[in-house]
Amino acid sequence: MDITLIGVPLEEGAGRGGCAMGPAAFRLAGIRKALEELGFTVTDRGDLRPEPASDLSDRPEAKNLPVVAGFVRSLEDSMYQAARNGGIPIALGGDHSLSMGSVSGMARYAAEVDRPLFVLWLDAHADFNTPETSPSGNIHGMPVAFFSGKAELGTILPTDRPLVSPSNVFQVGIRSVDEIERKLIAENGVNVFDMRAIDEFGLAAIMRQVIQKVTEANGLLHVSLDVDFLDPDIAPGVGTTVPGGATFREAHLIMEMLHDTGLVTSLDLVELNPFLDDRGRSARIMVELTASLFGRRVLDRPTRSA
Ligand code: ARG
Ligand code: MN
Ligand code: MN
Ligand code: MN
Repeated sequence: MDITLIGVPLEEGAGRGGCAMGPAAFRLAGIRKALEELGFTVTDRGDLRPEPASDLSDRPEAKNLPVVAGFVRSLEDSMYQAARNGGIPIALGGDHSLSMGSVSGMARYAAEVDRPLFVLWLDAHADFNTPETSPSGNIHGMPVAFFSGKAELGTILPTDRPLVSPSNVFQVGIRSVDEIERKLIAENGVNVFDMRAIDEFGLAAIMRQVIQKVTEANGLLHVSLDVDFLDPDIAPGVGTTVPGGATFREAHLIMEMLHDTGLVTSLDLVELNPFLDDRGRSARIMVELTASLFGRRVLDRPTRSA
């Protein structure tokens, strides 16, 4: 099996700079080698360098839309092409607005092979704002609304693009939702497992539900992993830390359970801000989790602390 790495040095969707250094940090943390050691053939496509979209304009409700849209268009196509060539694309972010492109590209592929696309959204945030509801105007808070067809952001992608039904979106780890956003996720039927659900039922029970849904539907599964899903104590390298996040063990359990199913066909690693990180710790944890997702066992983890 082939894995394609796609660097997405995008930070304009976030409220502060730094995520554009994410792809470099993931490479430095050894993402390629970790995957090759698991037996994958890895192709690194390098970083996308799109021109800003000149047909869209910047506005306070959707900051830096032309830059974000340029990346979204380019990544949508790169993900689609990589999947179509039989590989597993991994988007190395970059802020979370890139998922507008990665998920839309996989939705195009899923439509082509006539299978439903499911999204597992591992995040402290629901990222279901629209330009009208966003308190910040930061587009990284809007990708889920966008790929579900609920956020009006102009014609970033063709109007007939395949959408992802909100009922095919599973959000796990949620602990920071804005007021209107809360109504939107409920109205649209997003499956939300917040931190309280994790504490009450445990991650294994939640993951079994998700896995069962995707398996029954013969779906493709895209995983979008935001660094802030993790507790800031283990992953400080992110601009939007929220206390009470997933532990190292919980996060690995998700990845191991997913690996056993073989359902995952694409992945985003997003919101890593190396400028805020502590000597590469967050980058390394994200790489370790990726390795777990693709078959490495916790017990096989190298003991050196690089
Ligand atoms: N809900 C807040 C907003 O819309 C924060 C979003 C944070 N999103 C993220 N991908 N870190 O601005
Ligand atoms: Mn770079
Ligand atoms: Mn996010
Ligand atoms: Mn987040």
